[in-house]
Amino acid sequence: MTVYDALAALAAGNPEQARQLLDHPAPRHPLLRAALAKYLDGDASKSVYDQPAAFEAFIDGGGNVPLYQAVSAALADQYRTHGVKSLVDIGCGSGKALVPALAETPVPAVTLVEPSQALLDKALARLGDQQVTVAATTGAAFVAGLDARFDLGESTFALHTMPHEDRSDFLAALRPHVGRFVVIEFDVAEECPEDRRRTLADTFERGIAEYGDDRDLVAQGFLMPVLTGQLEPGAKRNTYEQPMRTWVEQFTACGYQDVRAETLIDYWAAPSFVLTALSKA
Ligand SMILES: C[S@@+](CC[C@H](N)C(=O)[O-])C[C@H]1O[C@@H](n2cnc3c(N)ncnc32)[C@H](O)[C@@H]1O
Repeated sequence: MTVYDALAALAAGNPEQARQLLDHPAPRHPLLRAALAKYLDGDASKSVYDQPAAFEAFIDGGGNVPLYQAVSAALADQYRTHGVKSLVDIGCGSGKALVPALAETPVPAVTLVEPSQALLDKALARLGDQQVTVAATTGAAFVAGLDARFDLGESTFALHTMPHEDRSDFLAALRPHVGRFVVIEFDVAEECPEDRRRTLADTFERGIAEYGDDRDLVAQGFLMPVLTGQLEPGAKRNTYEQPMRTWVEQFTACGYQDVRAETLIDYWAAPSFVLTALSKA
């Protein structure tokens, strides 16, 4: 018996069987076995948002520290290399990637697009005195009727929230309004369900191991809800990730030119990559 079997039982809608399987030793996945067993023993109906402290501990610790350092440095490199004077950040969240990049290489005119007012407020607080234009809305609503033009469009870990066709519509509509675009996302493999469960077990074991004192908080309050949410039959999909080469194909199909992507930094869930594209509109 392995943790893979327990994940298969969860995917088949049988959490009791999954829990029984987790009573067996799992030498390849000791941390995941213990965390998932504890989670299934408790009140697994809570959403990740019931425990914002767990999400904050997750995002501020483990592999997220070097990841965000690399992301901010990659953004700052774009500003510097291309002499960016105006930018629009799509789905800026709390500004965790953007704000250190602007501190390293200032950009005079910054526009933030973010549907969550709470996250936008955090980004604005982090930006301090920097003057910004704000659109508290989705990318699609922002681009409808837009007549401004920006040297750079950028988005970090936000375009994957859009379903594939919506993302194509958005990217095509934004193209005439940006000189170039930089995207940072994860290079997620396309796999059959069985291989996907194996990848989830192996990567979540690695992810849990990245946390020390906060391990239990992060595992119970964030990682286990995310893991089980991906496996439950009929679970609502809320991320639309894809392999790096499919991102390149999508940008090219939306009329962008010189579309290039390269790995930025490894991360426990999947490697991150930077994609750059030109708009000749
Ligand atoms: C994983 S977070 C990334 C936030 C930030 N860019 C970062 O790197 O930390 C995804 C962000 O996308 C935003 N988002 C969700 N749907 C969106 C949409 N349709 N258009 C623009 N942003 C969206 C979310 O509110 C959230 O802030």
